[in-house]
Amino acid sequence: MTTLRLAAGDADRAAEVIASGGLLGIPTETVYGLGANGLNERAVRAIFEAKGRPQDNPLILHVPDESWLERYCEDIPAAAYELSGRFWPGPLTMILKRKDNVPDAVTAGLDTVGMRCPDCAVTRAVIEKARVPVAAPSGNASGRPSPTTAAAMLEDMDGKIDAMLDDGPCKVGVESTIIDLTVTPPRLLRPGGVTLEELEEVLGEVAVDDAVRRLMAPEEQPKAPGMKYRHYAPKAPVTVVKGDPDMTAGYIAARMGEGSGILCFDEFKGYFRGHPVVTMGPVSDQAEQAREIFEALRAFDHMEVTDIWAQSPTDEGLGLAVTNRLNKAAGFHVIEL
Ligand code: TXA
Ligand code: MG
Repeated sequence: MTTLRLAAGDADRAAEVIASGGLLGIPTETVYGLGANGLNERAVRAIFEAKGRPQDNPLILHVPDESWLERYCEDIPAAAYELSGRFWPGPLTMILKRKDNVPDAVTAGLDTVGMRCPDCAVTRAVIEKARVPVAAPSGNASGRPSPTTAAAMLEDMDGKIDAMLDDGPCKVGVESTIIDLTVTPPRLLRPGGVTLEELEEVLGEVAVDDAVRRLMAPEEQPKAPGMKYRHYAPKAPVTVVKGDPDMTAGYIAARMGEGSGILCFDEFKGYFRGHPVVTMGPVSDQAEQAREIFEALRAFDHMEVTDIWAQSPTDEGLGLAVTNRLNKAAGFHVIEL
């Protein structure tokens, strides 16, 4: 098929794609998504096919505001509305008990569903106009880094989706935070644009799922099924080096080989002369690192590199989301200095 290019002003046509059961590339503040009518089982199955996504990995539903929660969820705790009041529209997905009208294809048969209200006016308008929740995973082919521009999404999806709605680069750059509100204490399943510290301010105690910080063994089942897959990976293997940035830069410079590519903070790009270098923003600018991380990982696929060394941010604040994506890209091959 030919993928139709739509601009942000084309919300009506984008809504028609959703309403007619088609596949639409949708902008959000986090990453671009591969959207379809979340109540249409066939359209939802087409998402899995276009991405090459394993069937056991559920999708989240995108809604225009919190009043839609009770259409698709039951036993909604007060905490859900406290969180939506503070963080919606925004990069937070809440796992809630689902109602029977949510298709099994969306939830992969789980009795819960992920709900998210994106901070992107055009996408909320599309959902309102289509009058259905939009099921959307990130718009990459399964296993690839998530797309933060329409062009990056088209690298993976051109010809596989009906239309691509372009609203410019994503302003957060890493996917939404996922919090499971069906357990006590609430559990962080995936770090993202809303930080663990911010969640704790509203919820008090928050448990952190093991899959956030380490590699899952084959027999382990993380609560977010997607967290078990190797992910975000460039084609060349990645080694992450964690510690004081001066030390990690020196460590990498002393060990890099002939074909090594380097992912580093802006301040250190002069350390690696003669090597392909991709930067991810200054040491102190976590928001910039979040915006850059996926494009940086994708950039190595357009370079001749045999392996990649990466400096690691710290894992406070937004850094927890950035290090999670980087460590996953490295298959958790992390050296701590
Ligand atoms: O920012 C985002 O969340 C982006 C944009 C497009 O909204 N979407 C996104 O979707 O990242 P996806 O499918 O790439 O990641 C969703 C994650 C997966 O790891 C999946 O396993 C988990 O959410 N998930 C979905 N429904 C779940 C559920 N009911 N229980 C536990 N985990 C769930
Ligand atoms: Mg994804």
